[in-house]
Amino acid sequence: MIVNRPPMGWNSWNTFGENINETVVMETADFIAENGYRDLGYEYVIIDDCWSLRDRNEAGEIVPDPVKFPHGMKYVADYVHSKGLKFGMYSCAGPMTCARYPGSYDHEFVDAACFARWGVDYLKYDYCYHPESTYGHYLYKRMALALSNCGRDIVFAACSWGAENTKTWIKETGADSWRSTGDINDSWASIKMLCQDQMKFAEYNGKGCFNDMDMLVVGMNGKGNVALTGCTEEEYKTHFAFWAMMGSPLIIGCDLRKADEAAQKILKNEMLIAIDQDEAYRQPFFINSRRIENVRRVGSEPLLESYPEDIPIMARLLSNGDIAIGAFNFSDHHRCFDAQLDSLGLGECTGKTLEVTNVWTGETAVIGKSNIRAELDPHCCVVYRARVIDK
Ligand code: GLA
Repeated sequence: MIVNRPPMGWNSWNTFGENINETVVMETADFIAENGYRDLGYEYVIIDDCWSLRDRNEAGEIVPDPVKFPHGMKYVADYVHSKGLKFGMYSCAGPMTCARYPGSYDHEFVDAACFARWGVDYLKYDYCYHPESTYGHYLYKRMALALSNCGRDIVFAACSWGAENTKTWIKETGADSWRSTGDINDSWASIKMLCQDQMKFAEYNGKGCFNDMDMLVVGMNGKGNVALTGCTEEEYKTHFAFWAMMGSPLIIGCDLRKADEAAQKILKNEMLIAIDQDEAYRQPFFINSRRIENVRRVGSEPLLESYPEDIPIMARLLSNGDIAIGAFNFSDHHRCFDAQLDSLGLGECTGKTLEVTNVWTGETAVIGKSNIRAELDPHCCVVYRARVIDK
């Protein structure tokens, strides 16, 4: 199967962990379909780990837990499909999943046939308990082959967290995305760490096999399976915007049915979704922050020099000739973002400049001859969609 854009949807793990059941999945499908999410592109409803019994049946198949899923998986899949959505499930390349339920090792073709029969459209494939005696790429190739011969189009979302240099072999396996990070949790520290870690992987992302930065924690507000401290609204905005600038899958992880208004606004930001899903699918480039020559002050706090890892400024050329530009303040200080037009392909001689629209406020400004500048509070970001215009 060929996947042309980073998948969007919802996954049960971040909030529900082991406490997953058909009611949660079906109500979430209703919510996605009825509250505008489906129309924005969120299409996969994905059940993560802990959906089965601990043992396979006599035919060697994994059995859905009858308490959690009393009507079986085909029933849930049919319901999700009836809402105009797609249905995702989870398994693992080892003999056990990370939560110690049956994994697909040595049962890949049997499991792929089951998933096809149930109507699965997306498979997240984890890497816990993989045997040391074989290579990760053998196991991902095996499941990819099983899926591409199961008679149904199933997106193959590899989840080996970047282990064993995944980036160098994942494309050849047939995977449609690869988890390029360890597990996220609902805290600023986790978001910051994942973002800073991912910049070096930007060049591996692209059509055919997307870098997957893990499910979103926007809207968890410290509640659920991977909850920790929770984040502020600005931190959730920075998180969502960074995922979009990097072109990661956007898989919601909160209990969407209970998400507050601020979270819903972030998750529904159409300009960021359009950047994430831009069909040219070019990787972002990083404009190295320059030293700020004239140190200015906000209140009594000095504007410190910027370093790329603290305040990355990235840009992405979009399919219609626009440029997405984002600056992210990962530091705990006020910082000044300053990008030269030269670094974006413009310059004095071109006779052109940029009209920029702030994706959060919708405000538009013409840059003129100057650099693009903004001051950023700690943990905040600014993202523009910039249009090339005559000076
Ligand atoms: C791993 C994955 C997570 C989640 C859990 C489930 O940790 O990286 O995303 O799927 O397993 O056990």
